[in-house]
Amino acid sequence: MLKLSPQAAAAHAANRVGGPNQPACYAPFTSMYFDQFGNVLACCINTIHTMGSYPSQSLADIWSSERARDLRSALTAGDFSLGCHDCHSSISSGNFNAVNAMFDQQVIDTPAEWVVENPPVAEDQRDPWPRMLEFALSTRCNLTCTMCSGYFSSAIRKAEGLEPLPEVYGDEFVTELRPFLEHVTDVRFYGGEPFLAPVNFAILEVLCQVNPSCNVSITTNGTIWNQRVQQIVEVLKPTIVVSIDGFSTEGFESIRVGASREKVFENLKHFSQVEGCQVSLAVCAMRQNVHEIPDLVRFANSNSLHLGFNVVRYPQDHSLSSAAAEELSEAITVWEELLQEQSSLEAPLLSQPGQENLRRIEGILSEARGWLAATADQTSGLEIRSSSASAARDRRRDWMELLSKLAATTYNSDALLTEEAFELELTRVLAEFDQKVAPQNRAGQLALAIAEFSDRSLLPAELDRFDQLAATLATSAVTPRIRLMTGLPPALIVDGVINMDPKVLALRFDSYFPPERNHQ
Ligand SMILES: C[S@@+](CC[C@H](N)C(=O)[O-])C[C@H]1O[C@@H](n2cnc3c(N)ncnc32)[C@H](O)[C@@H]1O
Ligand code: SF4
Repeated sequence: MLKLSPQAAAAHAANRVGGPNQPACYAPFTSMYFDQFGNVLACCINTIHTMGSYPSQSLADIWSSERARDLRSALTAGDFSLGCHDCHSSISSGNFNAVNAMFDQQVIDTPAEWVVENPPVAEDQRDPWPRMLEFALSTRCNLTCTMCSGYFSSAIRKAEGLEPLPEVYGDEFVTELRPFLEHVTDVRFYGGEPFLAPVNFAILEVLCQVNPSCNVSITTNGTIWNQRVQQIVEVLKPTIVVSIDGFSTEGFESIRVGASREKVFENLKHFSQVEGCQVSLAVCAMRQNVHEIPDLVRFANSNSLHLGFNVVRYPQDHSLSSAAAEELSEAITVWEELLQEQSSLEAPLLSQPGQENLRRIEGILSEARGWLAATADQTSGLEIRSSSASAARDRRRDWMELLSKLAATTYNSDALLTEEAFELELTRVLAEFDQKVAPQNRAGQLALAIAEFSDRSLLPAELDRFDQLAATLATSAVTPRIRLMTGLPPALIVDGVINMDPKVLALRFDSYFPPERNHQ
């Protein structure tokens, strides 16, 4: 069980549109998120607890799967442990505008007729059809943004000399999706660059025919404006979320590598000029653009544009969660001054979207203050970071237990490690592990140690999965992987091992820790 503290739960309830006595999050009740590997998730944050996987399962089976129901039950009980760790962290730190708030809004915004036409069918399911579909179907992209990775951008893979990731979704997917598209109220596209992937155009064209009045949102890098894009936005009148991480030309182009700032701002105007089409901005709040954010907010506020922040947790060299206390304090000062300046404005100088943007600034300020508090709790050299000090401690304790089990499988010691000895012991265990365990046995031992993390006995079929993981890990260097895994939520590992194809799992592990890139 991973619950909010009573104080955090009360603050969360007070800040929710629907008030108290709701599931901790509506995502698995309302939404399906399709990732680039074929995993179907409740949202983009919980990449741990998949509801199912395409194409091995039908979309209808995924929506009513046992795993979807498990997540619904957990959140109804206020339990964030099935992969909702990051939202637990954000909410605990006082950021109530984290991704889960979007699903509250979605429930509120769903037209009454939709609920009448689609009555709840079961207590744990609520809706016979998802109200929202989110698509991150393809990694085709023309940019190599510095905070992004080859798991989202084919251009980055190309620059790194890697093959493109396979495209999982094709015409059959669009055919199976059609009845879902007829019933949905909200559809969101991410990527890759959504205006480059044929499957997105196929879905958008079905929407134009069967459900042109549904709410569509497309998150784009803003580099593409052509006749096909124009035709689609004229029919569907979507919200276009343009990702912009710098205001100055230099700031913008040093992060969004390959894009022209001038062209993207020109395209912003094209989108805004389509009648009924809303434009908003998405900004990654990170170490590289702390000082660009004030001008971006001023630009959004004075042009009546909504602006949202992406919390960047990886890569570490971009994430403020990994910054030193001094740097975090500086970011907090810059954003507090911005908040003060913008709060002192009145309409018409501060538009309605501008007022809502103030809450978004408060959200990233809360995250930054939480990270600052966590810096006081860190042992030097440890790579375990979290947006709340208590979550960091919990995670460290979990990993100490894992390592003591790992140590036990390696050289028969079952002593639990003390917190102080953790870093020393990590290095020692890994060295011993390499020295004492033959390369062909390492992966199996690691897998068994991880298996013990599950708080129940594993079924024979699940143990088979660990054998498969062992086989997959055996082909790569085990020790670096253990190091990487200490930064991952243990639940991802146990859950992923039990439920995923080992090759897909290995890809997902890698996607958490993409190789360091030379950003020059
Ligand atoms: C992966 S992009 C796909 C859509 C489109 N290519 C774009 O850039 O808007 C979706 C969103 O994720 C953001 N993003 C990229 N790297 C990120 C990271 N490391 N952490 C958080 N958000 C990130 C982007 O800025 C963008 O707003
Ligand atoms: S445009 Fe989007 S998908 Fe492409 S590299 Fe940048 S953030 Fe990644």
